[in-house]
Amino acid sequence: MVGLHVFQTVSQPVVPAIFVFGDSTSGVGTNNYIPECGVKADMLFNGIDYPDAKPTGRFSNGYNTIDFIVQQLGYNESPPPFLSFVHEQQLQNLNESILNGTNFASGGSGLLDNTGRKILVIPMREQVEQFATVRSNISQILGGDAAAETLIQKSLFIFSVGSNDIFDFFSPPNVSHTQQELEDYMTFLMYNYQIHLKNLSNLGAKEIGIIGLSPIGCCPLLRTFNDTVGGGCMEGLNDLSSEFPGMNYSLGNTFDLTKSLLNGSLHLSPPSLQQACCGKGKLNAEDKCRQDSNLCPNRTKYLFWDQFHPTQIASKFAAGLLFTF
Ligand SMILES: *[C@@H]1O[C@H](CO)[C@@H](O)[C@H](O)[C@H]1NC(C)=O
Ligand SMILES: *[C@@H]1O[C@H](CO)[C@@H](O)[C@H](O)[C@H]1NC(C)=O
Ligand SMILES: *[C@@H]1O[C@H](CO)[C@@H](O)[C@H](O)[C@H]1NC(C)=O
Ligand SMILES: *[C@@H]1O[C@H](CO)[C@@H](O)[C@H](O)[C@H]1NC(C)=O
Ligand SMILES: *[C@@H]1O[C@H](CO)[C@@H](O)[C@H](O)[C@H]1NC(C)=O
Ligand SMILES: *[C@@H]1O[C@H](CO)[C@@H](O)[C@H](O)[C@H]1NC(C)=O
Ligand SMILES: *[C@@H]1O[C@H](CO)[C@@H](O)[C@H](O)[C@H]1NC(C)=O
Ligand SMILES: *[C@@H]1O[C@H](CO)[C@@H](O)[C@H](O)[C@H]1NC(C)=O
Ligand SMILES: *[C@@H]1O[C@H](CO)[C@@H](O)[C@H](O)[C@H]1NC(C)=O
Repeated sequence: MVGLHVFQTVSQPVVPAIFVFGDSTSGVGTNNYIPECGVKADMLFNGIDYPDAKPTGRFSNGYNTIDFIVQQLGYNESPPPFLSFVHEQQLQNLNESILNGTNFASGGSGLLDNTGRKILVIPMREQVEQFATVRSNISQILGGDAAAETLIQKSLFIFSVGSNDIFDFFSPPNVSHTQQELEDYMTFLMYNYQIHLKNLSNLGAKEIGIIGLSPIGCCPLLRTFNDTVGGGCMEGLNDLSSEFPGMNYSLGNTFDLTKSLLNGSLHLSPPSLQQACCGKGKLNAEDKCRQDSNLCPNRTKYLFWDQFHPTQIASKFAAGLLFTF
């Protein structure tokens, strides 16, 4: 098993670059560059609170949790998507900026190749392969493998992935599972997580921070499936996310942290703890966020931005607490 470094404090470590892997919880627009991809947030109202009200592809009204984490480490925001370098061929800029890191995260993706396959996202296996390309680019720019290795050894690698593997496992027609099936699936996910981390460590990564899963059964869309009066979470998904393999190595206890947000530590009260800020229908969560969605009156009073994702203010709060939980 790869040696994992866990930051215990918010003091500023000297990290020359940040590389981000994962799904929509950490993405900054990878899917914008995949024409046929079915999961995109490159339209308003996404980004309405980002500088210049720009929809970047983040599933948020502004910044996401990773943005706030890297801000604590002295960066302005998460590094740009790897595919933006490939797509725009900005060779003049490439040298300089690729050395500060890249973001490989693809909304809808998971640990397993099959997760999100139908919607053409980039699975973790491929994200790690893309990093191998970046590594060779860095070698080229710095004039040798040794210099690249030094940079990579000191860089921070952040993972935020796994929710979609669990969502998919509970998707129709597979809505219920035996205890044995659940256990087997978790073992399989953990095995896959370890392979990805091992492959990454073979490429020189040493400092790896893992973001655990939140209680995903409490996101607005899943709540629409619980008919309890007053609204409840889907506990099956929560049970699985609390057991998630990433837990034991994570930067902080994301599960308990998010539970405490749901419990009111942000001083929000219903319905803004259960409803999406941007959407349509029941709990405003039956449709993705787009320009003709219903938008909540005050975005600083909502925990959830859309069907699945936290608002900027919840992300900021979570990133601040992540190091202390
Ligand atoms: C980028 O780095 C390579 C290798 O050091 C160098 O050959 C090339 O001229 C650089 N390009 C720019 C635009 O600086
Ligand atoms: C890379 O990071 C350094 C230090 O934070 C910063 O001064 C520089 O502007 C960054 N380069 C790019 C292209 O973002
Ligand atoms: C990990 O690396 C091995 C050996 O290079 C490769 O065969 C495999 O596809 C990579 N990724 C995964 C998820 O196994
Ligand atoms: C980055 O590396 C890949 C694989 O080695 C190569 O095909 C590509 O041309 C490189 N890009 C730049 C801008 O150097
Ligand atoms: C449904 O669940 C079974 C066993 O839990 C699993 O083997 C199968 O791959 C799942 N099918 C889909 C489409 O997720
Ligand atoms: C629905 O919510 C209620 C109240 O929180 C909870 O007791 C129940 O287990 C939930 N149902 C499912 C299917 O998770
Ligand atoms: C996490 O750690 C606990 C206590 O050390 C252990 O019982 C559990 O099996 C571990 N879980 C995973 C997924 O490694
Ligand atoms: C949330 O609140 C309930 C009821 O007050 C309490 O039992 C539970 O421990 C709290 N959970 C967290 C994670 O704070
Ligand atoms: C939105 O809510 C915040 C926090 O309660 C409050 O400070 C702010 O004035 C509100 N904004 C509007 C436009 O009502």
